[in-house]
Amino acid sequence: MKKILFVASECSPFVKTGGLADVIGSLPLALKQSNGADVRVILPLYDEVAESYSEEFQYVARFHVTLGWREQEVSLYSYEYKGVIYYFIENNYYFTRKGIYGYYDDGERFVFFSHAVMAALAKLDFVPDVLHAHDWQAGLVVALANIEQPIEGLKTVFTIHNIKYQGVMPHSTFSDFFNLSGEHFSGFEWNGMINCMKSALFHADKITTVSPSYAEEILDPYYSEGLHPLLHERLEDLSGILNGIDTKEYNPLTDPNLHITYRDSRVKKSINKAFLQEKLGLSVDESIPLYIMVTRLTEQKGLHLIKRILPEFLQHNVQFILLGTGEAEFEAFFAELPHIFPDQVRSLLSFNEELARQMYASADFFLMPSQFEPCGLAQLIALQYKTVPIVRETGGLRDTVVPFNSVSGEGNGFSFANYNAHDLLHVLYDSLDVYQDAIQWRRLIKNVNKQKFDWQHSAEEYSQLYATVTK
Ligand code: GLC
Repeated sequence: MKKILFVASECSPFVKTGGLADVIGSLPLALKQSNGADVRVILPLYDEVAESYSEEFQYVARFHVTLGWREQEVSLYSYEYKGVIYYFIENNYYFTRKGIYGYYDDGERFVFFSHAVMAALAKLDFVPDVLHAHDWQAGLVVALANIEQPIEGLKTVFTIHNIKYQGVMPHSTFSDFFNLSGEHFSGFEWNGMINCMKSALFHADKITTVSPSYAEEILDPYYSEGLHPLLHERLEDLSGILNGIDTKEYNPLTDPNLHITYRDSRVKKSINKAFLQEKLGLSVDESIPLYIMVTRLTEQKGLHLIKRILPEFLQHNVQFILLGTGEAEFEAFFAELPHIFPDQVRSLLSFNEELARQMYASADFFLMPSQFEPCGLAQLIALQYKTVPIVRETGGLRDTVVPFNSVSGEGNGFSFANYNAHDLLHVLYDSLDVYQDAIQWRRLIKNVNKQKFDWQHSAEEYSQLYATVTK
């Protein structure tokens, strides 16, 4: 039985800012169930972790970690939740703060976390075969494990969930924080700076990303955020494994947030739609197609395209609801929109899980025209709730949404290739045509109903990867 230790900075249900937390919160159990691997997870203990969990923690050990001149105490805890063992690194100075990222010393905080994980390895009653680290916050663990060899034969896998965030710090931090001799500097340096993601790409035995298309895209300067030369060097060890979703958690047949649950009944789905239309004061009318977005309001999510063409699209008899928060520019746009289209648009500038689920259940179309999207979970949730995705062909969106072809009858959504607002507008018009054509719409929905994006397949791919790397 393979023993794998996941290292990450967030994990559902304990602490979450994005899709990373969903993956860390669901993949370990999937690996256990599909291949009997013992996968455990080590995380920082943030203030945000609810007491209902932390009061059940078991004490494991206490030790010191030195970071340059600073010596810090760490308490290590373990906690079993739904069949998976989690370890938490507690240190008040670095992690007892509001929120989880966005501090001037984030780099230092995760250097500390990485040193603490290395020290924790000696205290655990668990000797992993593979350290599997996720995103830049855990990247240094890969580098330190390779250099320090804390466990004989220990292998490393590094997964890129988003190459845009790399953990970049002044090069002086190398001598301040790393406790390493100068010969190792080049493995951490990129463009004159310390770069945590680079250190992982340089040191990892295997590198993965969260979809096959993204694995190809990041070889190109348009997507690589400057790291393509290094990725080309590591090409043989780079692969893409598509994320799944927890299909128990996201299941319209059991979701307690819904007005009425359903499997693939369009009638019941339309009862949810009428409920939401009424709740938000829109015309209750099944024949008006309902388009939604549930998203962080950042440029990555294609919001400049939306801004450019949505007012034009709203000249047609369609409804649009947005749920999300984020950058001021986009919040301002969406705050204004319902004033211009009071009968058609609602903007909910907040985050509310119950409402999100009700939107997935009610909508006809889910919009996600991302500029880049390593995998994307929302389009998968939409498909689970039998809502048709409209996406740009990038990363995981390209790998999960097949454009509907009204001649062959294939496809589960709508997509466009270039990051261009009028290409998006064009597929929005296509979606409207199909919605208004009962025969084509039925063909499309039939395909949507057949989709399955659970973890099964991907868990097998990870297991194979672990087998290869430990051979
Ligand atoms: C990041 C990516 C997203 C991906 C998620 C989980 O948030 O932006 O595309 O789905 O990580 O891997």
